[in-house]
Amino acid sequence: MTSTQLRMPVQRPATKPFRYDVAVVGLGYVGLPTALALRAAGRRVVGMEISTDRVAEIRTGDADLLPSDRSRLLDALEDDDAFRLTADPAESATARIVLVCVPTPIDHHLAPDLDALRAACRSVVERAVPGQTLVLTSTTYVGCTRDFLVEPLRRRGLEAGKDVYVAFAPERIDPGNERHVQKQVPRVVGGVSAECVQRTTELLEGCASYVHPVSSVEAAELTKLYENTFRAVNISMANEFADISRGLGLDITEVIDAAATKPYGFMPFYPGPGVGGHCIPCDPHYLLWQLRADRVTSPLIETAMTQVAARPGRVVQRLVEVLAAGGKALGNAKVLVVGVAYKPGVADVRESPALEIIDRMRDAGASVSFTDDLVESILVRGGRMRSVRASAAEWDAVLVHTLHPGVDHGWLAEAPILLDTTYRLQKIAHRSVL
Ligand SMILES: NC(=O)c1ccc[n+]([C@@H]2O[C@H](COP(=O)([O-])OP(=O)(O)OC[C@H]3O[C@@H](n4cnc5c(N)ncnc54)[C@H](O)[C@@H]3O)[C@@H](O)[C@H]2O)c1
Repeated sequence: MTSTQLRMPVQRPATKPFRYDVAVVGLGYVGLPTALALRAAGRRVVGMEISTDRVAEIRTGDADLLPSDRSRLLDALEDDDAFRLTADPAESATARIVLVCVPTPIDHHLAPDLDALRAACRSVVERAVPGQTLVLTSTTYVGCTRDFLVEPLRRRGLEAGKDVYVAFAPERIDPGNERHVQKQVPRVVGGVSAECVQRTTELLEGCASYVHPVSSVEAAELTKLYENTFRAVNISMANEFADISRGLGLDITEVIDAAATKPYGFMPFYPGPGVGGHCIPCDPHYLLWQLRADRVTSPLIETAMTQVAARPGRVVQRLVEVLAAGGKALGNAKVLVVGVAYKPGVADVRESPALEIIDRMRDAGASVSFTDDLVESILVRGGRMRSVRASAAEWDAVLVHTLHPGVDHGWLAEAPILLDTTYRLQKIAHRSVL
């Protein structure tokens, strides 16, 4: 299907009037800002969230959001008519378009955990009404939109693309990123038919810079997996180059910044303590899992994922070396971790390398604390830890994991031993890197 065909005018069947323009199912790091963006674009939005704790957190206006989204939320909470929060799954039937945006994590065996997505899709399919559009936005394997929406609709006697419109439109939001806000980022949409793409496009144009249609839901599904696998592979290579640079006595950040002056054919990725969050550590495994079923291997992606997964262990090993050079053993050391969020500017610790690093150091006998201006507490093996006041005085070593913007890190220069896993503290002469 070409983009010209996708944009051809189509005959619309009569639809019953819906109370809401859009329902967003799942109001997490992605769904909530999306719901707020749609409301800001003038849509009547019903936000559906299964966790009553999360609904309560949103109602207080206290969710982890960019300042601009927070003010949208406070504004939206005043206007119950155009923005409604609910935990009632039956509300999906009240919206003309339903966006499904629930978590798609991996389990301990690195296999996709599709429970939340399967349950959310089952719920919206059970309540689907003719004329409605169902859009999957969660990252998932290729073929999932057909398995979880198209086929179940067919079993209910509803034909996708004719009775109910179905599309896949992967989310690209980058929580905490004020430079590339949602409204400035294009969206990719693949539908079961041209009408499915058109209906989804009409909605998403309000909260994206433009919509790029592709010829199928599968092409859109693979696009998302390609984007995040691309990042995982490049981060893994940046880590490898960081190790190479240290061996050569060179500063990797200087090298990457210099390479980034090339205006074509290069995109900078920076090394670090590993990868975290709900995307990069998880999404490539959706692809690898799917390929395994077909007895297909992808050695480059496998190697990259193995390397990024091993990085937190490498951090601890390096700390052992750095402490040993100062005559100290990790088992007797007091270590402060600076920043436990998986990246700067967010309070999200999902899959954060800091958690594994802390567990490993504690397993080795170290006394470990952390300080993070955005994260009050974390759950590690052995219980909950609370953030402490930042200071250099009481620690044998300070391990820098995440540097949040707008926080004064000047005190780090006083740390006796400083392991900089961010590679950004070049001004501190005595710091060590991985
Ligand atoms: N976080 C990111 O940076 C990011 C970026 C792009 C895409 N994605 C993708 O977006 C999807 C959502 O990610 P997230 O980070 O927002 O996850 P999240 O865990 O922050 O939020 C998901 C929310 O969905 C709710 N939920 C689960 N099942 C539900 C149901 N049946 N009905 C209503 N609510 C339900 C959960 O309680 C949770 O609040 C994932 O597929 C992820 O891969 C995430």
